[in-house]
Order: sequence, then C-alpha cells, then structure tokens
Amino acid sequence: MRTVEVPLGQRSYQIKIAPKLLPRLGAECRRLNLGARCAVITDAKVGPLFAAAATRSLRKAGFDPLVITVPSGETAKSLATVQRCYDQLAANRLERKSFIVALGGGVVGDLAGFVAATYLRGIPFVQVPTTLLAQVDSSVGGKTGVNLKAGKNLVGAFYQPRLVLCDLDTLKTLPPREFRAGLAEVIKYGIIYDAALFQRLERDLPKLLGKRPAVLGPVIARCCEIKADVVGQDETESGPRATLNFGHTIGHALEAISSYGKYLHGEAISIGQVAAAKLSCELLGLPTDHAARITALFKHAGLPVTVKLTSAQQKALFAAMRLDKKVSAGEVKFVLAQRIGKVVWGQRLPDAAILKALAIT
Ligand SMILES: NC(=O)c1ccc[n+]([C@@H]2O[C@H](COP(=O)([O-])OP(=O)(O)OC[C@H]3O[C@@H](n4cnc5c(N)ncnc54)[C@H](O)[C@@H]3O)[C@@H](O)[C@H]2O)c1
Ligand SMILES: [Zn+2]
Repeated sequence: MRTVEVPLGQRSYQIKIAPKLLPRLGAECRRLNLGARCAVITDAKVGPLFAAAATRSLRKAGFDPLVITVPSGETAKSLATVQRCYDQLAANRLERKSFIVALGGGVVGDLAGFVAATYLRGIPFVQVPTTLLAQVDSSVGGKTGVNLKAGKNLVGAFYQPRLVLCDLDTLKTLPPREFRAGLAEVIKYGIIYDAALFQRLERDLPKLLGKRPAVLGPVIARCCEIKADVVGQDETESGPRATLNFGHTIGHALEAISSYGKYLHGEAISIGQVAAAKLSCELLGLPTDHAARITALFKHAGLPVTVKLTSAQQKALFAAMRLDKKVSAGEVKFVLAQRIGKVVWGQRLPDAAILKALAIT
C-alpha cells in the first residue's frame, strides 16, 4: 500500500492507495476515533457496485451505517440534493461525532463533502473515490461544493476529509471514457510539476490504459503527492494552487458553452491544455518539441485536442472565460508552461492568441 500525507497542521490526513482497500474501510475508520453512526453517500451507479462492500466492512468494525443514494451525474451536485441528504441525516439522528463516507466520483465527493462541512456546522468525512479523476484530484485538497443555475461550484466550503482511501479495484468498472478523462488530470500533473512523471506516462500509457495496479498505483500516488504538496503550500488558492488550473480556463469555458453536456471535464481540459501549450510556445518560449509531446500524449490517451467553434460559439467562449470565478477585476489570467514540469501563473493573453491556439490542429 502507498500512503501520501497531506500536510495541513491539525487537519492533516492520509491518502491510502492500493487494491482491495474497500473491505478495510471499517478498520481504517476505527483508527479515527469516530462515532458509531455514519452515512455512506453514493450515487445510483456506484451504489449497486460498492455500497454493500462498504457497509459490510463498516458493520464488521462496529459502525452503524445508513446509505444515502443520489442520482448519478453532475445534476446531483445541487442544493436540492444537499437538502435531501440533510433531511435523511436528521431523520436518522446523525450527531456531531457521526461521520459521512463519500463513495463515488467527484460529484459524490464534492456533494458529500459539502454536506459534511455544513451539517451540524461540520461533521467528519472520509473519501472513497471511485473514478480516476476523483482519486488523483477531487478527493484531495478539501474543496467541496455544489452548482447553481448560474454556474458550477458557486456554493461550497474548504473542508478537509479525515482520510482518503483509493481502492484501485474500484476503477475496474469505470467506463473507458471516464478513465481517459481522468488521465487528462494525470497528464496535467506531469506538465505543471514533474517532467519525470510526464516521461513515465509517455512510456507506460498502454499499461495505464490497461489499468494495471502495478503501474496505476505509483502514478496515482505521485499525482496525490503533487496535489498534496501544492495544497499544503496554498490551501485556499491565493497563489501556487492556481497552477492546478493549467488548461482549465479554456476547459471550463468549453464545458460551460456546451452546457456541461458535450465534453466530460477531462476532455474539455485536454483541449484547454493543448491550447495552453501552444500559447506557451508563442508567449513564454516553451520549446515546440515540448508542446508536440504534450499534444501527442493527450492524443494517445484518446482525448480530444482541438475544437471547431462557430463565431457565435467563440463569442460565448470568451464571455464564459470572463465569468470564470478565477477571473479577478474582469481580467482572465492564464497558467502557461515554460517547459514540461514548470509552469507560471498570472499570464494575461489577447483573445486573438487564444483563438489561434484553439484552431491549430
Ligand atoms: N473538489 C475538487 O477539487 C474537484 C476537482 C476536480 C473536479 N471536481 C468535480 O468532480 C466532478 C467530476 O468528477 P468525476 O469525473 O469523478 O465524475 P462523476 O462523479 O460524475 O463520475 C463519473 C461517472 O462515473 C460513474 N462512476 C463513478 N465511479 C464508478 C466506478 N468505479 N465504476 C463505474 N461507474 C462509476 C458515476 O456514477 C458517473 O456516472 C465535477 O463535479 C467536478 O466539478 C472537483
Ligand atoms: Zn480539473
């Protein structure tokens, strides 16, 4: 088993990464000094696959779990679902020492984390991420929240879990498209922080796509280490944490103009990162062979790297970028790469340069 520490003083916690972890959920929770009552929040696809194993393990360790199942997909990240969770927690008398287990992808993690952050002004929670994206990204770092009609993640809290358990076996049932979308975040860590990780991905991509635990385990652990390090330096995103948004300004805008439908998040940020790499060549001197390697890796991972936009869509894209909550004083700032493994943030870019980068194939 690999263990990654997230260093946040009193709120520090561990991320454990290995196959066959779900059956150990109860025993792992035992060590956290939690109350007996708990709620496993999961979704309609993940629940039938893994909720029984989770509750069995919790019961065996002396806990008394309740299962709350929310719909699968982004629409579950709503205040209406939060309300339904609160009602069930209250009806089942969960109290201050009770805890929540988030069993699912990033949607369940963000939702259940927000419920945990706010029910009774905060009860402990444990993340059991079941998508690649959730294992390398959303379950680490303590951002929780839900969407409003006006936009994604507009209501939320910084609230750290007490433990993260990444069971590699849960990824076996993940649809290939979702797995590839998670790889877009994995590749991102190589670009923003770790040239050796990027090289390893270039070499081991076929084995990774085959979900081999011996390859997957170290890669996921490295991604978690990187995120933990960045979050440890900057928990609430006043500086270095912004580098995690490489490719995300364009990616989020693409998601928004396609009404969160056409592209998965990982697909949108694949296009965004390739565009950011091209902009980096032009404006920051990223060597062109580095940009070519970045494009090739996303392509080999089966991810889209370009997008064709009508002029109406282009207008909508820039409007969406200006609405992104990372914008300050109306100015869109970008994270760009100097080389693979090193990025800088706070770059201002002309619209024309962005359009050009999106259009090149
Ligand atoms: N908090 C953060 O820091 C952070 C970071 C990145 C993304 N996010 C959020 O994460 C969400 C996206 O997460 P996601 O990509 O995991 O999506 P998701 O949670 O919707 O999961 C994707 C799909 O896979 C299904 N699924 C999950 N695990 C499965 C498994 N093991 N086997 C079969 N099916 C499975 C789900 O039911 C869903 O249909 C977005 O809402 C995004 O805003 C949060
Ligand atoms: Zn992302």
